[in-house]
Amino acid sequence: MTDRPAQILVVDDEPHIVELVCEFLGGQGYDCRGPADPQGALPLIQDGSIALVRTDLKMGAVTGMDILRAARGSDAAGTNVVLMTAYPTVENAIDALLNGADNFILKPFTLEALDHVVSSSLEKQRLARENISLKESLALYRASEALEAPLDLPEYLTMVLDVAVDELEGHAAQLALFDVEDGQRSVQQCIVRGAADQVRRLEESVLLALASELAGTSGATARVDAEGSGPLLILPMRAGGELLGLLTVQRGTGAPAFTPAQEKALAIIGSGAAVAIKNASLYNSLQEQYLGAIRSLVAAVEAKDPYTRGHSEKVANYGQVLARELGAETELVDAMRVAGLLHDAGKIGIPESILLKKGPLTGDEYETIKGHVIMSEKIVDPLPLSSIVKRMIAEHHERLDGSGYPRGLKGSEISQGGRIIAVVDIFDAITSDRIYRSRMSMEEAWSVLDRFVQSATIDGTCVAAFKNVIRRHESGGLEIPGS
Ligand SMILES: [Fe+2]
Repeated sequence: MTDRPAQILVVDDEPHIVELVCEFLGGQGYDCRGPADPQGALPLIQDGSIALVRTDLKMGAVTGMDILRAARGSDAAGTNVVLMTAYPTVENAIDALLNGADNFILKPFTLEALDHVVSSSLEKQRLARENISLKESLALYRASEALEAPLDLPEYLTMVLDVAVDELEGHAAQLALFDVEDGQRSVQQCIVRGAADQVRRLEESVLLALASELAGTSGATARVDAEGSGPLLILPMRAGGELLGLLTVQRGTGAPAFTPAQEKALAIIGSGAAVAIKNASLYNSLQEQYLGAIRSLVAAVEAKDPYTRGHSEKVANYGQVLARELGAETELVDAMRVAGLLHDAGKIGIPESILLKKGPLTGDEYETIKGHVIMSEKIVDPLPLSSIVKRMIAEHHERLDGSGYPRGLKGSEISQGGRIIAVVDIFDAITSDRIYRSRMSMEEAWSVLDRFVQSATIDGTCVAAFKNVIRRHESGGLEIPGS
């Protein structure tokens, strides 16, 4: 940053005072100028580069109060104003201070007094700017910190609203997310945080009207709600040119207006949230596409072998019920569904001559069939699925005694999900008709599973829990989807 001298504007209807003050302050190192008349000061103030205005109070058509209002209206920490008058009254002083004057000095004045007032006023301004920049950095830091954290979107947006209420000293913050269908915008979701009872919640019609009005604007817009509520700050949230929603912060009736620095802070907080919303929506649409692809894949696999039709769905359903029965975490129960659907996806790569063979398989043919697990793993590898899902798929033919495939894992090397899917996969396979044999009765099936438990190939706890599940299901006490 360059250290340019502070620009000071001297406004007075007496030209010799303008000349005297400019000469003195110029000698003190300031960039000082004075318009020919007070009217000429207004456009100079508007351009925002003036650090301080020293103005006379009584000047004719344009008064010192007009100059003060013009300066304070531009930016809270932008232009400071020092009023000077030869006719001091208490009313004048109070009025000036209420309107944001930084100092009030009397004529006649000494140059030393003027120097002191100007330098202390500029120091106060420097501190105010530092404070704003610190607050902006803090808001940005808090919002970006949340972005890095592995939160889900609703949790993240709630946090953004809390940050907005805190940082902007609002009573409540509201986030409306839009949906556009056939060119028609509607509010898809609305979250409110803070003391919402102190402000009027913005209705859908109001939000949509604001969206249309502010769609082309950038940054936050401050206004007082037309229906008598307090100050309102509105930020259109955009990503890639698309209006995703509106972030608003409200204060109750009679509360002070938002400052330009707070408008900036909201824009900073909102920009992080807009990126997060866009990312989440892209992620969701990708997930949808993946799930669509997965469904097609399962349908294609089962179309090759009519005898296994519905097997993946049943493994998914049995697996979820068994995982719940065993008290597994929700994450594992949810993962069971996807793993059940996809565990045999690799069979798409097995020739139908082997898959549909009626007679016994040769050694080579059996090795080819076993290859379906590695192929399933390869199919799901690029998909954004949890490691639990991928591990279950990889382990569904592993056995506790190391006799399984493809890796021959043993005992504790096999995850809980892997043990569950193995049990339900075997159960559904032996209780369903296959091209090479008919289905087993329930008694036969349980005795097969019991033998596997005795030979330590499958997990006894899983089998015992699964027996409970099936018994309760058969007595009408438990519903198993699809059964
Ligand atoms: Fe399999």
